[in-house]
Amino acid sequence: MQYYERTTGCGLINEKYLNKEVKLAGWVQRRRDHGGLIFIDLRDRSGVVQLVFNPDFSPEAHRLAHSLRSEYVISIKGTVIERTQETTNPEMPTGHWEIQVLSLDILNKAKSLPFSLEEADQVDEELRLKYRYLDLRRPSMQKKLSLRNDINFLIREFLQQRGFYDIETPILTKNTPEGAREFLVPSRMESGYFYALPQSPQLYKQLLMASGVERYFQIARCFRDEDLRADRQPEFTQLDLEMSFIQEKDVQSLIEELFTLIMKKIFNISLNTPFKRLSYNEAFSIYGSDKPDLRYSLTISNFTPLFENTELKFLRSVLDKGGKVGGVLLQGKQLSRSELERWVEKAQKVGAKGLLWMKIEEGGKIESPVQKFLSEDFYEQIKTICPKAIPGDILFLVAGQYESAWEILGRLRVQIAQELQMIPEGIYNFCWIIDFPLLQYDKDSDKWDAVHHPFTAPQEGWEDLQPDQMKARAYDIVLNGVELGGGSMRIYKPEMQKKIFDLLGLTEQQVQEKFGFLLEAQELGFPPHGGIALGLDRLLMLLTNSKSIRDVIAFPKMASGHDPLMDAPSKVDDKQLKEYGLKIITKKPESK
Ligand code: AMO
Repeated sequence: MQYYERTTGCGLINEKYLNKEVKLAGWVQRRRDHGGLIFIDLRDRSGVVQLVFNPDFSPEAHRLAHSLRSEYVISIKGTVIERTQETTNPEMPTGHWEIQVLSLDILNKAKSLPFSLEEADQVDEELRLKYRYLDLRRPSMQKKLSLRNDINFLIREFLQQRGFYDIETPILTKNTPEGAREFLVPSRMESGYFYALPQSPQLYKQLLMASGVERYFQIARCFRDEDLRADRQPEFTQLDLEMSFIQEKDVQSLIEELFTLIMKKIFNISLNTPFKRLSYNEAFSIYGSDKPDLRYSLTISNFTPLFENTELKFLRSVLDKGGKVGGVLLQGKQLSRSELERWVEKAQKVGAKGLLWMKIEEGGKIESPVQKFLSEDFYEQIKTICPKAIPGDILFLVAGQYESAWEILGRLRVQIAQELQMIPEGIYNFCWIIDFPLLQYDKDSDKWDAVHHPFTAPQEGWEDLQPDQMKARAYDIVLNGVELGGGSMRIYKPEMQKKIFDLLGLTEQQVQEKFGFLLEAQELGFPPHGGIALGLDRLLMLLTNSKSIRDVIAFPKMASGHDPLMDAPSKVDDKQLKEYGLKIITKKPESK
């Protein structure tokens, strides 16, 4: 039988095919023997359909069907029939029909699998990744691959319609400072020298603007050798774009339009535009983060004025050092004293020295470990900061220097919302964070670093300000508490670029070595330009409610950076090392 002449997909069998002959191919998902009949769930990427092997219709196929095991690859020819009412399976899209098989061809056999596909969610991730091709056979994973394909297609269509060119940029390149460590590739031709894998196509896309491209995009692979987390991978994909002769608002409205299209076409969800814009300072003071989750309230307030005359020693010492007391008001949740004490431990885990809780009781009395230090009218005082506070509410307070205390409150806010199930489902809350600081001080190196990257243009008036006051023409887009993307208007004049390099503490020689080509290009007719990059894997992770970014990447690395499927990274032999002029000084111990 010609198995490549399939009539349709298993999951696409419907009334249209009733009493017709079809040819299907796929994987045996399950086999059941029942009173002389053999039932097979046949799966291909479109779904599953039930096959029936009846000795009265085809003794030959029935005999062969006895040997079928899970994950055998087969093709069949048969007739689509309606199932009886008792055997209809309303849970299955094809559950009203089955295929009466006339002939069967076994295309490939399968040994017993290292794990059952139906229980893969409970299997150790390393094993799933070692056999990723099995893991990906699962319908839930197929759905993610298919969604990713749909989104990529939409993006390409959307940008092409707006005049963007899809241009590939090199993978073997020189370092691009995006703040992470880079992966190096030794050169054989220039022994002792290294390429760096790009952390992003940042400088190439800027040079494409100097090339007159005006509108560029790329679904680009990026590489960063940093510590991995649930939303980070050493290689990941960005939707990277750049435009000439534009302002911040042009990039932002383009991205809003793109997200509106994706959400509508794929999820039939309408987004309200323009998205909310929050300055970095606002976001930090209200949410303790530059990637706030706006799906729930639990905002941070400054309670410092309530403790100005406090006799509580630990608060006094913080306030005397210029520190502050911040807090979040938890409403509508009943927590016992021991649960409240547990939150103190949890706060310590996210970096707090301590957490002070206060429960407003009926009549406005305050229950707290420090209640004897609080004035009679403390509830009234709380209301001057949080007018909505009512009996039953709980106040969590953290004292410390502004940045660190608010950062802890920000993390606590997220943890409280997650654990107490305060996050509404099915809501996509996008926002822009703008007015970022241009620079941040790094104590260890005693230097100023660029918050975005050194090619980001400063906001007007920057030259009259101290470095810590300078603001960037940069913006991040945040979805449900995850930074999806970031971008900026770029520097395009060499004088400005040189001054920024100077602020960053780069010597003339370092500038020439690292960025001489950029300064030169800026002297040869560089248009004003700006752009953005969106983390596509992160977007997919959010849209599919996946716990880890690894679930939306076909072949991801483990959190350790290892690829158990290919067993990479791996050793190279001495001959190769010699060719590259390399000598290994330390290496990881051999595993047994
Ligand atoms: P940035 O460094 O902010 O900007 O990166 C943009 C977006 O890429 C995603 N991202 C990651 N995703 C998965 N794993 C990682 N290790 C990882 N690192 C970053 C995030 C992030 O918001 N060249 C600039 C953009 C520009 O200025 O146009 C850049 O790369 O979602």
